Amino acid sequence: MRVHVADHPLITHKLTVLRDVNTPSPVFRALVEELMTLLAYEGTRGVRVEPVEIQTPVSPTTGVRIAEPRPLIVPILRAGLGMLEGMTKLVPTAEVGFLGMARNEETLEPTTYAERLPDDLTGRQCFVLDPMLATGGSLAAAIEFLLKRGATDVTAICILAAPEGLAFIEKELEGHDVTVVLGAVDERLNEHGYIVPGLGDAGDRLYGTV
Ligand code: PRP
Ligand code: URA
Repeated sequence: MRVHVADHPLITHKLTVLRDVNTPSPVFRALVEELMTLLAYEGTRGVRVEPVEIQTPVSPTTGVRIAEPRPLIVPILRAGLGMLEGMTKLVPTAEVGFLGMARNEETLEPTTYAERLPDDLTGRQCFVLDPMLATGGSLAAAIEFLLKRGATDVTAICILAAPEGLAFIEKELEGHDVTVVLGAVDERLNEHGYIVPGLGDAGDRLYGTV
């Protein structure tokens, strides 16, 4: 597994405002989208392209275009939905599949409550979006789901991670071609499985408490 922490002052600045408990929902939502666009730039460094011949006003030249099959973006509902627009702005031709997962607040185990993905992901490059990688249970389950459908090249893009969650993903997905791109790695998890210092419950801060 490759882990890449995007180290950029704009990301750290936006993350600081995102973490602030006084940041209201509309600003939080805008920041998640902006952070996603910055992380997408890093996260799509390995996006597959193929050569294409074009004609400029001056001469023919060879450029590149995103290769077929098109990449698949998979936001993990709910909180990952807040990142989708930031990603599709950069890769508008990608397809989008959905996974709904909720973590049980007591056991911290994830359950999958929704799935809308292609049956066969052989040869597809997949980009999983979830702002929070806490215990790693949700992300590991999401990636395992994609691997079972034939995906061999998966990049997860998260805004914050806990060291414990990264270690869990590394152990669970050993031997698979997985890249994790992050805005920051925080200190630890607290006794409730929340990232410290973190930003609280990302889904609630995006969409309110359900
Ligand atoms: C949050 C978050 C991740 C998960 C991380 O979602 O968006 O999916 O928790 O925790 P883990 O690494 O310990 O599995 P949550 O289950 O709260 O659902 P939500 O997005 O609907 O708020
Ligand atoms: N899910 C969140 O939204 N925040 C955390 O800190 C941990 C899990």
